[in-house]
Amino acid sequence: MSKKIAVIGGSGVYDLFEDGETVSIKTPYGKVENISKITNKETEAYFLPRHGPSHSVPPHLINYRANIYALHTLEVEDIYATNAVGSINQKIHPGEFVVPDQLIDMTKNRILTFFDGDTEIVFEDGTSKQGVVHLDYTEPYTSRLRKRFLSLANESSKKFHDKGVLVCTEGPRFETPAEIKMFQSFGGTLVGMTSVPEAILAKEVQIAYATLCLVTNYGAGMQEEVTHAEVIELFNKKIQVVKSIMQKIIEGN
Ligand code: HPA
Repeated sequence: MSKKIAVIGGSGVYDLFEDGETVSIKTPYGKVENISKITNKETEAYFLPRHGPSHSVPPHLINYRANIYALHTLEVEDIYATNAVGSINQKIHPGEFVVPDQLIDMTKNRILTFFDGDTEIVFEDGTSKQGVVHLDYTEPYTSRLRKRFLSLANESSKKFHDKGVLVCTEGPRFETPAEIKMFQSFGGTLVGMTSVPEAILAKEVQIAYATLCLVTNYGAGMQEEVTHAEVIELFNKKIQVVKSIMQKIIEGN
């Protein structure tokens, strides 16, 4: 049986499968209509652009529960995500890649769990959970998937960092320089807006999850200003690196 995997694309990654079949999934949280599917020799792969097909959904309004529930319904085992992020570490520069190993949640207004009392989640092995669930979150990003990203990264000449602490903010505004200083003092490496609750929800439904982060800018106060245009421009410049890594993952190489 082929392995079921998914790629969740962030800013700049909207069309990974040119000839994918469109899949629409109904979930208790709403319909997810923009998943595409391709079947390879080794894998059945799904692609989900988290901001919608034309970046119309901002980070704080993404229906994270519907997206992850849809991938759970499709029996996806591994999620390989991508995020555009800012660097808050002087040693990590725009244009470089980071595969983070830790996460700090600084979001303010998002639903962070499937386990809100009534919902029962049935897992692959037939067991289920319901009610009050306190998830072990020692490993927010699955090391097996991080290693997979990094082994493919080593084949390219680009600069990759093999760990980092991603601070997820609420957005959609960028941070203040004072916030960036606070995050640095916490031990943060990167700032982004979409890893929470996506990475948490994946773990709740027992899907392995890791993300390949592209640094598009320095954090506020470390450069003159931060603009969305700059984030998109840098992502477009590096998109081929992200796509070729994802392509190898999708093909099971
Ligand atoms: N802050 C938050 N999210 C981001 C940034 C940033 O500087 N750059 C890209 N995504």
